[in-house]
Formats: sequence, C-alpha cells, structure tokens
Amino acid sequence: MVQLTVIVTTFLAVASAALSSPIQNAAKKDPVVTYLGSQGPVLSGGAFTTKGIVYTAGTIPSVNGSIIEGGIKEQTAQVIKNIAAILEEAGTSWHYAMKTTVFLANMSDYSAMNEVYGKLLPSPKPARTAVEVGKLPGNFLVEIEAIAAIPDC
Ligand SMILES: *[C@@H]1O[C@H](CO)[C@@H](O)[C@H](O)[C@H]1NC(C)=O
Ligand SMILES: *[C@@H]1O[C@H](CO)[C@@H](O)[C@H](O)[C@H]1NC(C)=O
Repeated sequence: MVQLTVIVTTFLAVASAALSSPIQNAAKKDPVVTYLGSQGPVLSGGAFTTKGIVYTAGTIPSVNGSIIEGGIKEQTAQVIKNIAAILEEAGTSWHYAMKTTVFLANMSDYSAMNEVYGKLLPSPKPARTAVEVGKLPGNFLVEIEAIAAIPDC
C-alpha cells in the first residue's frame, strides 16, 4: 500500500510537471524529428520524420544546388529522384509513399509530368494533388512534396 501511494504520488507529480510545461517536456524526449537531405540554405530540400512518417519539403529539380537543364520531363524525373534519395535516407522508399502534392508552374505541363511520374513511381501510386501555382520560387517548372510511411518504425 505504501508502494502504491509512492507510485501514485510520483505519477501525479510527473503528470502535473508535464501539464505545467508541455513544451519543455516535449523537448526533453528522445529526438524523433530529423532534418534530411539539405541542399543548402537557398535551394533547400529535406524532410522531417516523426513517428514512422516522413514529410519531405517541396523538392525541386536541382543537383548540387543548381537547377538542371531540360524541360518538364527531365525536371519531373530529377525531382522524383531527389525525393527517392530523401526517402532512402529516412529508411523508406517511393513504395511507401502515401501522398504527393505536385506544384506546376504551368498546368499545360500536366500530361508530360504525368507521363514521367506514371513511369517512375511504383504502383499503387500514392494519393496525389496536382495544382498550378502562380509562381514557383525559382526558375523551374515543377516542385513535388511527399509523405511516406517508414516501415519497421
Ligand atoms: C555533385 O557533387 C558530387 C560531389 O561533389 C559530384 O560527385 C557529382 O558529380 C556532382 N554532380 C553534378 C551533376 O554536378
Ligand atoms: C503555359 O504553357 C502553354 C503551352 O506551352 C503556353 O502557351 C503558355 O503561355 C504558358 N503559360 C505561362 C503562364 O507561361
């Protein structure tokens, strides 16, 4: 009975500490968020992982910080490859992708993007949203972000 009282008291103390400073408490836990695949401060890529899921940043058709040559097909292929590298670093792959969002500078590029995307991504394809955006933040035609499960996590 004494032991139980100690346990309950300890629990209440821990619980009230957690409630009184939720942000500090979260910061003390093991890190579950990791930054991956940085391509530098301007042409940044990368991703956050948490609880078995990786969220990539909007990933652009760059290699070593420079936008690649070529049109929508080449750029789409490069973005998919760049995301593959990020997913691999996170311990997963395109096979576990659940959702993508495709940002196109020009919706006229949709079918060409779709052709490359259809060929390079494994089936079943992740759920996808594709939109034309007024302007992408650089001189490129396509940007893609992805959410993927991390198996065995
Ligand atoms: C990118 O950088 C790596 C490492 O320096 C180099 O091996 C590779 O050839 C570069 N790729 C391109 C396309 O410049
Ligand atoms: C989008 O692409 C079409 C077809 O190439 C072109 O006619 C149009 O001017 C482009 N729109 C913009 C905003 O660049």
